[in-house]
Amino acid sequence: MKLVDLNIANSNSIKFKNNEFNLEKINCNGDAVILKVNQKLLDLLKKNCKKIENDNYIIRISYVNSIVFSMNNKLVYNGKRSKHLCFSDNYDFNPYKRIEEEITIINNALLNNLCPKLILYNDNILGGKTKLLLVMKEVSQNMFLNNIFKVENDSVKFCPPNDCSFDFLKDLFYKSMNELHKLGIVHNDLVISIFFKRIIHNSYYDEIDKKVKFIDFSLSYYPEQQNIDCKQAFEFEKEQVDKFFNDFEYRLN
Ligand SMILES: Nc1ncnc2c1ncn2[C@@H]1O[C@H](COP(=O)(O)OP(=O)(O)OP(=O)(O)O)[C@@H](O)[C@H]1O
Ligand SMILES: [Mg+2]
Repeated sequence: MKLVDLNIANSNSIKFKNNEFNLEKINCNGDAVILKVNQKLLDLLKKNCKKIENDNYIIRISYVNSIVFSMNNKLVYNGKRSKHLCFSDNYDFNPYKRIEEEITIINNALLNNLCPKLILYNDNILGGKTKLLLVMKEVSQNMFLNNIFKVENDSVKFCPPNDCSFDFLKDLFYKSMNELHKLGIVHNDLVISIFFKRIIHNSYYDEIDKKVKFIDFSLSYYPEQQNIDCKQAFEFEKEQVDKFFNDFEYRLN
């Protein structure tokens, strides 16, 4: 991934080499802002990076605030700094170190074909906070697992792309998650609970490679580097995923 001089001008405009681009927001419900790269910006980016193809790209802007900590060498909690200040008071949080860690994880996932093609990145300080900008290929929304394994108010719906069965996608999910674990990475944000509903997210099905891949490594970490028992950390992530699929399948029938 190449470091470029890509900067945030304001909430949905980006500066690149003295040019400002007002971009369409496609998602800003979570912590990150996702902007669609337009043709003008794409043309300019192409001049600076040979790896950019004629395809659709997005820019993801996120705060670098994730934190991992261990207590008595045990996995206690991995989450966002702001929500757990009492625990993280004595944690030596360095946003630049964290950016380095996130970029290392993304590069590792990229080398192993486990995420969308990511080409460029930059870090920024905005409003006193450190932000990470990433340019990556756009994934079609109906390929995201939260849209395939759709959890609604009182029901669940399975909306797979052509010819994919429940077990096929589930097996692919485990295969890719195990690949991440073999690389020493805990994704750490694959399943969330909202009002007692379990939702799978940050993952999608790549129709061309016939593989499940991941986005959003903001909370990902190498347990080994955090003095956390790897086996326990991987097992914990797997348990969350088991619970999701079991629950979904149970509610589907
Ligand atoms: N490469 C991409 N292509 C298309 N859409 C994307 C891409 N990356 C992210 N998105 C869209 O933006 C949403 C949020 O992205 P992401 O998970 O990176 O940010 P987040 O702030 O952690 O959000 P969330 O809390 O919803 O997980 C995704 O669910 C997806 O709809
Ligand atoms: Mg996310």
